[in-house]
Amino acid sequence: MKLQFNPLSPFVRAAMVTAHELGIADKIEKVEAVPTPTSTLDGLNAANPLGKVPALTVDGMTLHDSRVIAEYLNEAHDGGLMPGKGPDLWQARTRLSMALGALDAAVLIRYETFLRPEALRWQGWIDGQFAKVDRALDQLEADIGDFSGSGSEKARLDAIAAACLLGYIDFRFADHGWRDGRPKLAAWYLEFSARPSMRDTEPPA
Ligand code: BEZ
Repeated sequence: MKLQFNPLSPFVRAAMVTAHELGIADKIEKVEAVPTPTSTLDGLNAANPLGKVPALTVDGMTLHDSRVIAEYLNEAHDGGLMPGKGPDLWQARTRLSMALGALDAAVLIRYETFLRPEALRWQGWIDGQFAKVDRALDQLEADIGDFSGSGSEKARLDAIAAACLLGYIDFRFADHGWRDGRPKLAAWYLEFSARPSMRDTEPPA
């Protein structure tokens, strides 16, 4: 398997945490796809017309976005990282999409505040994106018992996405104070982030 990879991307991290939890991370060859002034990212654009990491080439297919990749890896390796069926499965899928959607909002804030010249930044839009992130975090706090499991259980895909969201907020927006008023989520993340899958995929400082 070949994965278009950027070590700073929280979406790549979600795919790689999934691979670690399934015990197949060493079967993934990482192809660096990091934008630089001189790189064309032709390989990434060929793998994913949207030009976004992660994209996984496997079994004659190229799969992209982290949710599709995580679900593929889980199914292909009989992982049991999602509830079997019924309402629990649909709620877990919805939570997985919500956490990744909040990550989309967080990454957009990063682009707006890091890449866009200061004079052109739109504070109202940034506030709106943070509000999406905060509402998702409130939902995770409310639902914690539905996805947290116990330390010895397999991590679920919605839990992995939630942890990658929290890790990215700590990485890029350390002063956002997401732990304030969310004690259950904070305690869960402290434990979850000590898993080898999370430690092995930490973004470089
Ligand atoms: C970042 O540096 O924050 C970043 C890098 C790649 C994808 C998304 C975010």
